[in-house]
Amino acid sequence: MEQVAADNEEALEAWDGVLYDRFVKFKEIVTEGLGAHGEAALTAHPPQAGDRVLDIGCGFGDTSLRIAEIVGDSGSVFGVDVAPRFIETAQKGAAGAGADNVSFAVRDVQVTEFENGFDYAFARFGTMFFANPVAAMRNVRKALVPGGRLTMVVWRRKLDNDWLHRAENVVEEFVEEPEETDEPTCGPGPFSMANADTTSDILLNAGFVEVDLRRCDIPILIGRDLDHAVEFVTALGPAGEVIRLAGDEAEQIRPRIEAALREALAEFEAPDGIVASASTWIVSAKAPTNISA
Ligand SMILES: C[S@@+](CC[C@H](N)C(=O)[O-])C[C@H]1O[C@@H](n2cnc3c(N)ncnc32)[C@H](O)[C@@H]1O
Repeated sequence: MEQVAADNEEALEAWDGVLYDRFVKFKEIVTEGLGAHGEAALTAHPPQAGDRVLDIGCGFGDTSLRIAEIVGDSGSVFGVDVAPRFIETAQKGAAGAGADNVSFAVRDVQVTEFENGFDYAFARFGTMFFANPVAAMRNVRKALVPGGRLTMVVWRRKLDNDWLHRAENVVEEFVEEPEETDEPTCGPGPFSMANADTTSDILLNAGFVEVDLRRCDIPILIGRDLDHAVEFVTALGPAGEVIRLAGDEAEQIRPRIEAALREALAEFEAPDGIVASASTWIVSAKAPTNISA
């Protein structure tokens, strides 16, 4: 295992443990539902054939495989993730798909000085969990060749992701997130780059130029039916985290919480399942052509 920043160790424990297990359970929603936002980013800022690409916080590696198709055999993709179990799954997926131009490795982006010169760096929801985002994004910028491009998808504010916000509010009517917990947590959290000023400052301080944020609103499937959607929001995201961290206190009243969530999410019922609007930033930036630091 490569070096992990001390302040990312708890996040590693969460991502390689409980969060990995839950992501596996909801893999379809994560890769297909949220995948639409990743596709929109790749359409807005496509990598070029032959590009060498770094996929940051690659998770199951589905985006790495997708980008490998775009860059073709003359290009390559290197998917990195701090959690070894995600990387093992990604490696198996690439072997199963017979993709020769993709490789994966366990890396904490915050403390990794990448050797290769990448033309393009990509992340779908993979950059919001660094304890020190400027240090991590500086490593990404240094991994790029001069003029290389970063494209990343991050959540916009909770208010515009009503299903997440609503679910969290419902859960908080029953239990509160404890101030102290022995459970590992995932670091700054999914909304840490929701503020456009904060995110552009992080990137500028990391040495990027031409920072651009484009709002992306695409509805996503959050469950096959209401039961599935309730299962999803009580496992992952802000509501799921409150329940997990509240522990027994939440488990004792789980049926009541779930009933309230069913009611709150009923409005999103559609013919094909539970469909809710989801709002992200598609962020693009460049490594300067004359890099000094
Ligand atoms: C929300 S998941 C997104 C995964 C994937 N990109 C996707 O869209 O399905 C965030 C990912 O970032 C990874 N991650 C968190 N901190 C990291 C770090 N310091 N270095 C590298 N990866 C990290 C996690 O292990 C996790 O796989």
